[in-house]
Amino acid sequence: MTEASRQQALGQFPTPAWAAAALVRSHLPDLDRQDFVVEPSCGPGRFLQAIPGHIPVLGVELDTELAEQARLLTGRPVIAGDFLEVELPETPTVIVGNPPFKTALIEAFLERAHDLLVNEGRVCFVLPAFFLQTARRVMRYSEQWSMAQEMLPRNLYDGLKHPLCFTTFRKDRRRLMVGFGLYAELAYLQGLSRDVQQAMRDGPATWGALVTEALEAMGGEASLRAIYEYAAERRPTPNPAWREQIRKVCQTKARRTGRGRYALQERSRNLTLDLAS
Ligand SMILES: C[S@@+](CC[C@H](N)C(=O)[O-])C[C@H]1O[C@@H](n2cnc3c(N)ncnc32)[C@H](O)[C@@H]1O
Repeated sequence: MTEASRQQALGQFPTPAWAAAALVRSHLPDLDRQDFVVEPSCGPGRFLQAIPGHIPVLGVELDTELAEQARLLTGRPVIAGDFLEVELPETPTVIVGNPPFKTALIEAFLERAHDLLVNEGRVCFVLPAFFLQTARRVMRYSEQWSMAQEMLPRNLYDGLKHPLCFTTFRKDRRRLMVGFGLYAELAYLQGLSRDVQQAMRDGPATWGALVTEALEAMGGEASLRAIYEYAAERRPTPNPAWREQIRKVCQTKARRTGRGRYALQERSRNLTLDLAS
């Protein structure tokens, strides 16, 4: 196997040292001697290097050569092994790093991290944004974690094609989401009936839509009086001048077929009226 294909297969994209240092400074400024920090899939150990020297840390790396390299570069202990299986000597309070960018593997890392961490312990991962792209998936993670995320520039890593984010997962009892707009709402909506989902997509009913609906219900053509009757119980707003409103919609959007009678425009038979009003 060439060096490049081995790197691809193991997802070996080491985080630039300056970026690991900046992320640790801004996201883990509160670490102290009581913490035990683990960098799983540590590669050459860029996060190990970034954690201040007085704080206990441990690296885990599958690739034995890289594990040895990380030991030499950082002077920190590194276990050569699979993060999903290795025994750790202590219970971690923080797990930080850059896992290989494969959804199933990241999920497995998070599961393992949840089992290992103390309560209120944190996972801080550089992740591909695709890991957080759909509402239901993210809301499933939020059943176990409080989550906060921020964007990172994609070109932090040479040759990487994915947008990136830095996500903190906290093993909290009361879970909060920071930086996830509309995820909870969309996941909730997706659990409702198709009709409700459609109505929520289309937005509030309008007078134009109501007239179209009335004309369609009456075979495409009807008297104004019949349209009023149809609309009386279905008015989308409490406008007291609602008959006037309906007449205006008929005059401007429907086709007049006789005295006080209107029909759907030809093109509207299969589509709908222009619903602007
Ligand atoms: C994307 S690199 C991250 C390197 C390092 N965390 C950094 O940010 O510089 C991913 C590393 O994970 C290692 N790796 C892949 N699967 C692993 C596993 N199950 N357990 C431990 N290490 C693993 C690979 O060998 C590779 O060195």
